[in-house]
Amino acid sequence: NWKMGDFVQLEIARIRELVGDKALVLGAVSGGVDSTVGAALMREAIGDRFKAILIDNGCMRLNECEQVKETLGKHLGIDLTVVDAADLFLGRLAGVSDPEKKRKIIGSTFIDLFEQEAIRIEKEAENTPNSGKVEWFLQGTLYPDVIESLSFRGPSATIKTHHNVGGLPERMMNGQGLRLIEPLRLLFKDEVRAIGRQLGIHESLVGRHPFPGPGIAIRILGDVTKERVEIARQADHIFISMIREAGLYDQISQAFAGLDTNRSVGVFGDQRVWGYIIILRAVRTKDFMSAEVFNFDNAFLANVARTICNQVEGVARVVYDLTSKPPGTIELE
Ligand code: XMP
Repeated sequence: NWKMGDFVQLEIARIRELVGDKALVLGAVSGGVDSTVGAALMREAIGDRFKAILIDNGCMRLNECEQVKETLGKHLGIDLTVVDAADLFLGRLAGVSDPEKKRKIIGSTFIDLFEQEAIRIEKEAENTPNSGKVEWFLQGTLYPDVIESLSFRGPSATIKTHHNVGGLPERMMNGQGLRLIEPLRLLFKDEVRAIGRQLGIHESLVGRHPFPGPGIAIRILGDVTKERVEIARQADHIFISMIREAGLYDQISQAFAGLDTNRSVGVFGDQRVWGYIIILRAVRTKDFMSAEVFNFDNAFLANVARTICNQVEGVARVVYDLTSKPPGTIELE
């Protein structure tokens, strides 16, 4: 007879036991519900010995880093350090279009930066009451991430390498470097939300659509360049804002605008242009293992398409993805 209330108390006790009363824990926070709930549990368990950072990989949504920093400070009292690494990530991603390669590059770049941050944090903590070694690394891994990354039938059966499971180098997995602490490893998303509410986390955070660690990079088919990220980011901002204004945000589990590899011809005034193609996606799902397409009014979608073409320079066409999961995945890659 497992209850959510028990989960929080048991998990906090387990974290305290694991971490002890000296070690520091580094946590990657993205502003999504998983990492936020994970951070709240850590803060509850070990207070200021939990150090939260957000790495800007250059593939975050519009204004996201600033907003997450503000919200975490205001609602959870967590002083988030934002590390601007956009150029490093985009540099390493240049010319890479294979989805698994993108995930691996992003995953390993995250790890490089986490290790640098661990050193910086230890230095900063020297000669303070919280001086200690960064021994643990928090991840908001969920049960579906674990299942989808495990290969039940050999390597070819891996569905997709989630950067927060399969992309981690051996040194983090085998206990020689930072050890992983994953408080949500046995939970589904709806359970994480329930726990978030129980911890008093603000509804605007708890109800947020998930956002993947690799960010917009896996919503851009093909090469990830600064220009293409910017186009997808602006289109996404318009789509999500219009969904919110229409009062549909909470009826949708996840929505975003991505970018196609190809270009398409359009007419603007009396000019023919060869422009980008935006792919809109919106799904409903309970567990993110399977999902159905959200049914918008055609008039709403046409309005989104018009607005994006008018406001995002270089976009000539907007399409709506009608694929359920399976056979499609929620992200484009
Ligand atoms: P898919 O695309 O696999 O997505 O149907 C299922 C859920 O997982 C999220 N997702 C990821 N999250 N790193 C993450 O942190 C990843 O590499 C990744 N790939 C997918 C996706 O946003 C959706 O909520």
